[in-house]
Amino acid sequence: MGSVATSGQEIVLPRHVAVIMDGNGRWARERGLDRVEGHREGRYAARRFVRAARERGIEVVSLYAFSTENWSRPESEVEALMGLIETALLAELEELCERGARLRVSGRREELPAPLRSALATAEQATAENDGLVLNLCVNYGGQVELVDAAKKIASKVVAGGLDVEDVTPEVFAQHLYVPDIPPVDLLIRPGGDLRVSNFLLWQIAYAEFYSMAEYWPDFQPEHLDRAIEDYSRRQRRFGGLALDE
Ligand code: FPP
Repeated sequence: MGSVATSGQEIVLPRHVAVIMDGNGRWARERGLDRVEGHREGRYAARRFVRAARERGIEVVSLYAFSTENWSRPESEVEALMGLIETALLAELEELCERGARLRVSGRREELPAPLRSALATAEQATAENDGLVLNLCVNYGGQVELVDAAKKIASKVVAGGLDVEDVTPEVFAQHLYVPDIPPVDLLIRPGGDLRVSNFLLWQIAYAEFYSMAEYWPDFQPEHLDRAIEDYSRRQRRFGGLALDE
């Protein structure tokens, strides 16, 4: 974990920052716009966030782009989101490559439209050898479904005789998550003011610090990330143990 002293305050850099990109619809509605316009603007906020995270030395960012529950939205919004994620990804690919970033994907991709699946595969392959920032894009992602999928993989191995039930530890379980080789979430940021985790990275956020910001996601600016990191730096993380002076 990085640690830098600025203006008297010790800054502790989280390794993995996850974001629930909320408030796009409200941002649009307050401007008399269609909800989809909020998502379009949210795409640029995602770009600002990823750039800011990389510049600050954060290792992994996870973005909640589409949840397993978002299918219940109107068909037009779902279609627009699928197209937007595909277009945004392909448009950002050159910069991701230039900056040495690596795209990882979390979620049930087999249920996504073919053009989006293909864009995800293209971006994954093009960045597979990069060792800079990891962008974990969560699409058709649900925390509960991820745990179910992990349990199914484990059960299959047990049935096939490749794994003993007694050997299923938290470490072994974690190896069956969608992207097993990234550190747990240190800091979970939720814009839009709501105080809930909405089925996001349920396993990975076990000891994450939660940071809520009132601003809607399309209004995200790099200073918000700095404020979140400053706040995170003041937290005393105990991971179920005791603080050093207790
Ligand atoms: C939640 O806001 C936001 C979403 C369901 C979609 C977020 C997706 C993007 C911003 C696209 C980003 C693309 C890439 C490739 C990173 P909401 O609609 O629930 O807002 P509300 O709570 O105000 O209604």
